[in-house]
Amino acid sequence: MRSLLFIPGDSPKKLDKGLGSGADALLLDLEDSIAPPSKAAARATTTAFLKETRTAKDRPRLYVRINGLATGLTDDDLDAVVAAAPDGIMFPKAEGGAAVIHCDAKITAREAIAGLPDGGIDIIAIATETAKALFLAGTYAGASKRLKGLTWGAEDLSAELGAEANRDGDGNFLAPYQLARSLCLAGAAAAQVQAIDTVYVDFRNEAGLRRECEEARRDGFTGKLAIHPAQVAVINQVFTPTADAIKRAEAVIAAFAANPGAGTIGIGGVMYDRPHLERARQLLARVKR
Ligand code: COA
Ligand code: MG
Repeated sequence: MRSLLFIPGDSPKKLDKGLGSGADALLLDLEDSIAPPSKAAARATTTAFLKETRTAKDRPRLYVRINGLATGLTDDDLDAVVAAAPDGIMFPKAEGGAAVIHCDAKITAREAIAGLPDGGIDIIAIATETAKALFLAGTYAGASKRLKGLTWGAEDLSAELGAEANRDGDGNFLAPYQLARSLCLAGAAAAQVQAIDTVYVDFRNEAGLRRECEEARRDGFTGKLAIHPAQVAVINQVFTPTADAIKRAEAVIAAFAANPGAGTIGIGGVMYDRPHLERARQLLARVKR
């Protein structure tokens, strides 16, 4: 998934608009974009939308962002939405693999009650929203077969840290949030799941978004969260491997295949060794998906 678009789960108009946005996934939100008195209405609107949309052809993947385990709202959220069979649950304020196991168990029980296949619903966890979570970013491996991705957030973390800002005057993340970003990236790689970059909230600034997407791709993220439909095209473009990158990857794989005993190879005056081969394989696997 290259682009994952947040949509407040209580807005039928935005939900419909999201369907035509071109996003690879829609994140129907029951958490931070929904005020406490509107949670029940948002569950009902989100569930109705899932039921209506699930069978549509060529639809994006449909995830629901539930409320975190500390809120006391998680069970009511899952009671409402699991029966409508979303493709996945976005699990916020995750504190390591143990929390994912907890979330997995809650989903498993409800899949059984609803008569859905066991394990059909995926999880993407938001791994850096509390201070404690930062210290647990390396604990996701093996927690759950449902876990398909990790992403990160700076807003809740800055509130918890008591910070005045999370970006500098030029819009660059400050040190604590660069750390969170790196921990998400390494945590995802350690768990062998997709690393998904956080939102870019300045949604009218296309150049800024593009730059942040390119920096994320450079570092190993393979997708990015969006908050506005206008961000989807840029995200999809940056995270779609270019024809050039595909050609280079194929050349690396072909060169190693032609020299099965070689640990390192020169192509066009540049050295390639095993990590390059692994990277080339990963890129082609992503293209195939
Ligand atoms: N998903 C689907 N449609 C959206 C959308 C979204 N995330 N954000 C905006 N739209 C729609 C608007 O409804 C509007 O539709 P219209 O042309 O039919 O009236 C159109 O896109 C243009 O929107 P615009 O006027 O540019 O923005 P806005 O002021 O209406 O909305 C936000 C701005 C930030 C409130 C809105 O983008 C939003 O709700 N984003 C998601 C917030 C969220 O889920 N946050 C939680 C995760 S951090
Ligand atoms: Mg949040």
